[in-house]
Amino acid sequence: MQEKISVLIPEEKVNAKIKELGEQISRDYEGKEVHLICILKGGAFFACELAKRITVPVSIDFMQVSSYGNATSSSGVVRIVKDLDDSMEGKHVIIAEDIIDSGKTLHYLIPVLEKRNPASIKLCAMLNKPDRREVEVKIDYLGFDIPDEFVIGYGLDYAQKYRNLPYIGVVEE
Ligand code: IMP
Ligand code: MG
Repeated sequence: MQEKISVLIPEEKVNAKIKELGEQISRDYEGKEVHLICILKGGAFFACELAKRITVPVSIDFMQVSSYGNATSSSGVVRIVKDLDDSMEGKHVIIAEDIIDSGKTLHYLIPVLEKRNPASIKLCAMLNKPDRREVEVKIDYLGFDIPDEFVIGYGLDYAQKYRNLPYIGVVEE
């Protein structure tokens, strides 16, 4: 079935924002190296584009998490499906995530990663839905605040489809 999709944030705006974030991170981390942690699968497109815009040395690692619960509401208990390959000890870590919704995933994950002794840890999210927040999460670098709508594209899926859209869209009813 083919859903009808409308554009919420066009490709040029997303790309321009990622470039801005990359420049900001490059300034903030001058003289340091960044260890980018991409949260799969949704964060993949964002993390790769962001990495391309960072001018200090970047290493990148991948992690996949899944939250217990049903498809629409996460329980807050997160299972690590694929763990990182490399140690993050002593590194300046930036987590690249697609979207912060209830906040539960990152609220759980950040303290888990902090125990692995990085030099620092910051969160960079492409999208944020402030109206949906249930637990507190500090977003250090943010692309866009968006309204409480289900979005797709640029890594975000609807039943595993549409991650490849180069823009942020909304599925019409
Ligand atoms: P949180 O734990 O509620 O913040 O959930 C974050 C995760 O839910 C994200 O990493 C996405 O995988 C998924 N998610 C939340 N909102 C959307 C959306 O609008 N479209 C697609 N996936 C979403
Ligand atoms: Mg995600």
